[in-house]
Amino acid sequence: RKAWAEPYRIKMVEPLRMLSREEREQKLSEAGYNTFLLRSEDVYIDLLTDSGTNAMSDYQWAGMMLGDEAYAGSRNFYYLEANMQKYYGYKYLVPTHQGRGAEHLISRILIKPGDFIPGNMYFTTTRQHQELAGGTFVDVIIDEAHDPASTHPFKGNVDLDKLESLIKKVGAEKVPYVSLAATVNMAGGQPVSMENVRAVRELTARYGIRVILDATRAVENAFFIKEREPGYQHKTIAEILKEFCSYTDGCTMSGKKDLLVNIGGFLAVNDEEIFQQARNLVVVYEGLHTYGGLAGRDLEAMARGMEEAVQEDYIRHRVLQVRYLGEKLQQHGVPIVVPIGGHAVFLDAKRFLPHIPQDRFPAQTLAAAIYADSGVRSMERGIVSAGRDPKTGDHRYPKLELVRLTIPRRVYTNAHMDVVAESVAAVYQEREKLSGLRMVYEPTYLRFFQARFEPL
Ligand code: F0G
Repeated sequence: RKAWAEPYRIKMVEPLRMLSREEREQKLSEAGYNTFLLRSEDVYIDLLTDSGTNAMSDYQWAGMMLGDEAYAGSRNFYYLEANMQKYYGYKYLVPTHQGRGAEHLISRILIKPGDFIPGNMYFTTTRQHQELAGGTFVDVIIDEAHDPASTHPFKGNVDLDKLESLIKKVGAEKVPYVSLAATVNMAGGQPVSMENVRAVRELTARYGIRVILDATRAVENAFFIKEREPGYQHKTIAEILKEFCSYTDGCTMSGKKDLLVNIGGFLAVNDEEIFQQARNLVVVYEGLHTYGGLAGRDLEAMARGMEEAVQEDYIRHRVLQVRYLGEKLQQHGVPIVVPIGGHAVFLDAKRFLPHIPQDRFPAQTLAAAIYADSGVRSMERGIVSAGRDPKTGDHRYPKLELVRLTIPRRVYTNAHMDVVAESVAAVYQEREKLSGLRMVYEPTYLRFFQARFEPL
């Protein structure tokens, strides 16, 4: 059959509230035209992020009741550890409150001042921790990733020539690890192929360099491999995930995405020495090494989420729902990043608002306009997110100037997606009326979270 539906039914509902256009304009101005500063209750459909916004299953909620809230040695930790070993295949687990807690630990342990960390496009918090540890991030993703119109099936791939020339230029001893993300969030939720991760492993092995995976959305990545890469159609998502991880030396994880929870993360490694250091540092910054800033019940929910994340009908529906929204937008002629990624549809603000120069924040302007139109909340992923160059102090001008419509897992139906598509199409019709923003407040770190703007 052609028709497909949610592989679950709804057991509990949360009513939504819709403000009037005038009220939304008022709220937007109070929030400094930054969707991060809106109150959730003023939002109708919240596509700000897929992070921590997932709906947990009855199986996960039942697990919450089995939380062992002992300070040390909670049984939920051991269950999570066993599931991590089963599904991701690494030896050692250090839980953290969320992904950036793990990024902090691994950056501190492996990076020395003056080091270079190559990666397949930056992610905001990942790069911030690399820089705070004294490192310099170097983008080694394939060129196609920076082109929103390129239909390359694995736009998250590492460019092996870029990677090898960096290693030759600075010397292998100055490259503590390759920071490999799957899927690549900032490129549009684009996957990395198995062939590519295998090649990255071979290349780095020759130089004795580690590969640390950002496994935040690696299950979604596995779905794309199954769909697109020859030889994987008959493998299970769990088999693909484990093979992918086997080419890396460890991972940081934000459980708030793939693992279907509201909070949680971890660092996993194979090297015992690194594990010992991480286990020691985690008690300083997060909490004891068997809870890492989480309650026992949170560890249990994440362990159970791991089991659900790799279920074929779940992950298929997940990615197809994102695609459903993207294809609706394409039917309206709205410019989006292709291929449609795993967790979000990204509007191409450069083509949507070609009359607004990048230093007038076209993506920020567009995200604000969509909220004003319908109460749909999205996120800027362009010049504001890219921040300033720490050496020159100038804006970084990323090639991609995007607005992300991020779909929480198991939360909205396709009818919500229809409303979103209609609203974005309406803003597209009226796009010439938009004229950009001016930044009036800029915080030091990760400015996109708290910056404030005024209309021009
Ligand atoms: N890595 C990736 C690829 C991410 O997308 C995120 C978070 C993190 C690491 C950090 O994890 O939030 O648990 O500390 N991304 C969220 C987003 C915030 O909206 O894309 P965290």
